[in-house]
Amino acid sequence: MKRDERWEGVYSFEDSPFIMEILTELRDENTGPIAFRKGLVKLGRYMAYEITKTMATEKVLIRTPLEETEGIIVKDRRNVVIITVLRAAIPLMEGLIKVFEHARVGIVSASRGKAPKFEIEMKYVKVPRIKAEDTVIIADPMIATGSTLIKVLGEVKKYGKAKRYVIVGVLAAPEGITRIKEAHPDVEMFVAAIDRELNDKGYILPGLGDAGDRAFGEP
Ligand code: URA
Repeated sequence: MKRDERWEGVYSFEDSPFIMEILTELRDENTGPIAFRKGLVKLGRYMAYEITKTMATEKVLIRTPLEETEGIIVKDRRNVVIITVLRAAIPLMEGLIKVFEHARVGIVSASRGKAPKFEIEMKYVKVPRIKAEDTVIIADPMIATGSTLIKVLGEVKKYGKAKRYVIVGVLAAPEGITRIKEAHPDVEMFVAAIDRELNDKGYILPGLGDAGDRAFGEP
C-alpha cells in the first residue's frame, strides 16, 4: 500500500503484484463481462482487507481446546456502511461485503443531467442511518472528474456523521482526487491505481473504458 504524497489519506496499490494482476485483466479490452465482474469482486475483497489494516482492533481473551490465549478482533469491521453507487459498483460491493459482512448497505444512483448544466442527478437514494462509530465506505470503481462522488458524499453526510468516510475505487484521475479533497477534505481514498489524466470526454487514461458497460454490457 502506497500513501500518495500529493494528498492526505489517499492510498494506491501499484506496489501490490496481485492487485496489479487483477487490474491488468480489468484494463485489457479482451476481458469480457464475466471476467470483468469477477475481477471487480476480487478487487473489492482485497481492498477491504487493506482497509482492515487501518482499523481499530481490540484484544480478546479466548480458550483454544488446549489453553487460554490472547487474540484480537478488528472492532471497526463491525461498524461499516457500504454505499453502492449504481451500477458499476455492484460487483465491488459484493467483494467488500465478504470482509465487512456486518455492513449495512446503501444504494444511490447518480447520473449526469442534460446540457447546458450537466448537473449530477440522484434519482434513487436509500442510505441507512449513520452512527458516530461507523466507517462509511463509498464504492465507485472510477474516480474521474469527481463530480458524482462530491454529490454522493454531500448526500450521504445528511444521514449522520461517521467516524470515517472512505472511497474505494479501481482507478482515479489526479483531477478527480483533487476536486473531491477540496470539497470533502475528511474523505480517504483506497484505489488500485492512480492513472495519468482525463481525456476531453471525462474518461480516465490509460483507464479501462466505461466500467458499467464493461461489467454489464454486451459480452
Ligand atoms: N467512468 C468510467 O466508467 N470510466 C472512465 O474512464 C471514467 C468514468
